[in-house]
Amino acid sequence: MKLIIENDAGTAATAAAQLIAEEIGTHDTPVLGLATGRTMEGIYARLAQAHEQGTLDFSCVTSFNLDEYVGLSAEDPRSYHYYMQDHLFRFVNIDLHRTHLPDGAATDLDAECAAYEAQIARSGGIDLQLLGIGDTGHIGFNEPPSSFDTRTRCVELDEATREQNAAMFGGDPNAVPHEALTMGVGTILDARRLLLVATGPAKAGIVAKALEGPITPEVSASAIRLHKNYVIILDEASAAEL
Ligand code: GLP
Repeated sequence: MKLIIENDAGTAATAAAQLIAEEIGTHDTPVLGLATGRTMEGIYARLAQAHEQGTLDFSCVTSFNLDEYVGLSAEDPRSYHYYMQDHLFRFVNIDLHRTHLPDGAATDLDAECAAYEAQIARSGGIDLQLLGIGDTGHIGFNEPPSSFDTRTRCVELDEATREQNAAMFGGDPNAVPHEALTMGVGTILDARRLLLVATGPAKAGIVAKALEGPITPEVSASAIRLHKNYVIILDEASAAEL
């Protein structure tokens, strides 16, 4: 395990972007697991900047995102499909055919989840999985309790998660979809390397629980401590309770 504590959210994003860029550079056909949320925005901005400066090539990158809301189409500005396009894909030379997110608008959600797992397997598995952490301790949308062998599936979102993510839905937690498709904890643990990034004082309590509390399905982020190759990047504010 490697724990990096940076001064602030900006330097944490820079460190995370550097690590992702290095990972891309070490593979002929890198497979990245991507995440969404405010924490990732600074990281994607730096990756886009590196691409613009000519130092980072996405042409051989394949990507799989962690999750998507049920019922939102890719064109919906509140969807994670849209988020990825808006924050990263439109700025870099990634082949959109190699980018994947679960389809929250699929008619058969179970079939969609099984197909997503199969696609990840066909790609040879994920080299580096990027992770944020939610207020409930979730990674992806693995709300507590999520057993550590769960695979991509449809989950019900906690009230706390809908509140945390309400800003994208006009500030109304009830407008946030009640369900999402998410890679399981087991799917995430199968990645060859994990990178969890958290910033800001609001994350300090849950970061301490995840990194120093019991390893338990009640805090799905605690599962990453079972992985043999993981990196945590925090800023001082989110590391304050360690
Ligand atoms: C959502 C995503 C998570 C992400 C979390 C944190 O719930 N499904 O993958 O980690 O948001 O978001 P933020 O970075 O905005 O705090």
